Amino acid sequence: MTLNGKTAVVTGSGRGIGKAVAIKLAKLGANVVVNGVSDSADKTCEEIKAFGGSCIVIKGDVSNYNDVEALIKGAVDQFGKIDILVNNAGITRDGLIMRMSEDDWDAVININLKGAFNCIKAATRPMMKQKGGVIINITSVVGLMGNAGQANYASSKAGLIGLTKSAAKELASRNIRCNAVAPGFIDSDMTDKLPDEIKKSYLSAIPMSKFGTTEDIADVVAFLASDMSKYITGQVINVDGGLVM
Ligand SMILES: NC(=O)c1ccc[n+]([C@@H]2O[C@H](COP(=O)([O-])OP(=O)(O)OC[C@H]3O[C@@H](n4cnc5c(N)ncnc54)[C@H](O)[C@@H]3O)[C@@H](O)[C@H]2O)c1
Repeated sequence: MTLNGKTAVVTGSGRGIGKAVAIKLAKLGANVVVNGVSDSADKTCEEIKAFGGSCIVIKGDVSNYNDVEALIKGAVDQFGKIDILVNNAGITRDGLIMRMSEDDWDAVININLKGAFNCIKAATRPMMKQKGGVIINITSVVGLMGNAGQANYASSKAGLIGLTKSAAKELASRNIRCNAVAPGFIDSDMTDKLPDEIKKSYLSAIPMSKFGTTEDIADVVAFLASDMSKYITGQVINVDGGLVM
């Protein structure tokens, strides 16, 4: 599997799953554009350059369309095209519905769902022009099964699945594929902050009896980004140790 000569934009790739994806795609030969809202994006890029990979950083908030336009334009200006878009940036603001503030609802929907819409909208034009591309949205098993205390997050991730399938149908004739990866419980900064009892209850529900790693997600993203998956579009691939089946 190679991504030599391809250009990939990975949103929210300063840490966690996004960082693992950026490193994996760079190791397979892609020029990678690391995006994020904090300085950790610079560190990801330094790591990629340390093993000889090709990388630039373009910071920006995916929920802001001007930032997203600058991100996609910057990628095309630097590398001449955009072949792979990974919509990974995401946040949680958990709480029960009756106590959830409008701000917490809006923030999660704006970053997790509208952010992906913004990036797809901006990347579609250059992808159409170059007659091909691949879009991968990082959703969650929570978008498939719901989760108490995560109405905003689960709705954003379920919405992302509808967005994935709609984009796949709209763009298939333009040789642009769009798929989603649904991680289960992955060891990362986002999940580190969950209480131990919640972690234990998840573990007991996972048939493979272990949490996934960020590399497990990166491997599937790499497969979907490559020609190895050239006849796959509009699909959601669960990477969850069997949690949802
Ligand atoms: N960790 C898990 O178990 C898990 C499970 C299912 C789905 N996911 C999804 O995978 C993705 C990555 O999760 P993670 O665990 O690595 O999270 P994380 O919190 O470690 O990383 C998220 C990244 O997104 C960036 N980000 C946040 N807001 C942004 C914005 N407005 N614009 C651009 N970048 C922004 C952050 O700076 C950070 O680098 C998320 O979409 C998350 O919902 C994670």
